[in-house]
Amino acid sequence: MLGLRAILCRAVSSSPASNRARTAADVDLKVKVGSLPFRNPILAASGTFGYGIEFANLVDLGKLGGFVTKGLSREPIAGAPAPRLCETPSGMLNAVGLQNVGVRAFVEQKLPVLRKFDVPVIANVFGYCQEDYVEVIRALEGADGLVGYELNISCPNVKKGGLQFGGDPVMAAEVTAAARKAAVKRPLWVKLSPLVADIGLMARTVEAEGADALTIANTYPAMAVDFRRQKSRLGNQTGGLSGPAIKPITLRLVWEAWKTVKIPIIGLGGIESASDVLDYISVGATCVQVGTASFIDPEVSERLTGQLRSTCFESNLFTINELKGRFSAEIG
Ligand SMILES: Cc1cc2nc3c(=O)[nH]c(=O)nc-3n(C[C@H](O)[C@H](O)[C@H](O)COP(=O)(O)O)c2cc1C
Repeated sequence: MLGLRAILCRAVSSSPASNRARTAADVDLKVKVGSLPFRNPILAASGTFGYGIEFANLVDLGKLGGFVTKGLSREPIAGAPAPRLCETPSGMLNAVGLQNVGVRAFVEQKLPVLRKFDVPVIANVFGYCQEDYVEVIRALEGADGLVGYELNISCPNVKKGGLQFGGDPVMAAEVTAAARKAAVKRPLWVKLSPLVADIGLMARTVEAEGADALTIANTYPAMAVDFRRQKSRLGNQTGGLSGPAIKPITLRLVWEAWKTVKIPIIGLGGIESASDVLDYISVGATCVQVGTASFIDPEVSERLTGQLRSTCFESNLFTINELKGRFSAEIG
């Protein structure tokens, strides 16, 4: 099926009308998450790309699909004790504890700088209680320079909030409904926890409360110890597992959710290569986010865009959208 389409497309594109054969540069990577357009489907993930500004000297921000800010809270958060990161086989554990400057400092100090770059910015919103989420969104509503909000109801590294919301459909529904009311100006994405028995239920629940898109998923609660010292390898004792180790698990979650909701899904977990991106899109993701891979190579998101064009071209895909959900459709 894909092969026939490719032959037809090539025949058309090499006709006298277009006057030349297509190349990888012609692959159309544009995607839309609901009403939001992105130049390509690769966004940098929350917590792994700072406030974007820190990466501006390393990466051409204008080449990214977009990025999601560090989690923003009502008041500044000092975060968890060191060490905050440790490497594990095929992955990484983190317990940063949502350290951030607080939403007011973000609006006053970071956003004015960010506005100078041609890159869509999504604000990741965090709270210890429902009112916190609402207050953070209210503080952002009055500011220019953002295209949307991502509600983090799934952080495993804080004692209050986070997973409490993401693990309970009733609480997830309530916080989504409250945030939806506050988020008048911009689309609202909800970032789900992978630690649920039925991802379809959580996905449908937040969709019903007005979420415009789902981000699937956050990190997996985990730990790493040094038995010789009888100590955890993280100051917080436990943390969140990310990186290639989680990709197969999260990929299934995206697929399960895609079968049950109509709103777009942003897939993330362990993406390192163009094939990883296309795997997520084939099970139903509209676009993806890249997290841990930025720690190994800060330029990974920019580089992946080029690789994605070549990989699509080699796979006879001329628009990224034609792959979306194809996996499910074809296994019947
Ligand atoms: C150091 C670190 C900090 C993170 N901070 C946040 C955060 O503030 N808010 C959030 O929603 N997710 C946060 N995450 C989760 C990532 O956005 C992403 O969901 C997760 O790492 C899985 O993707 P990956 O395997 O590509 O890293 C963080 C992850 C890491 C590694």
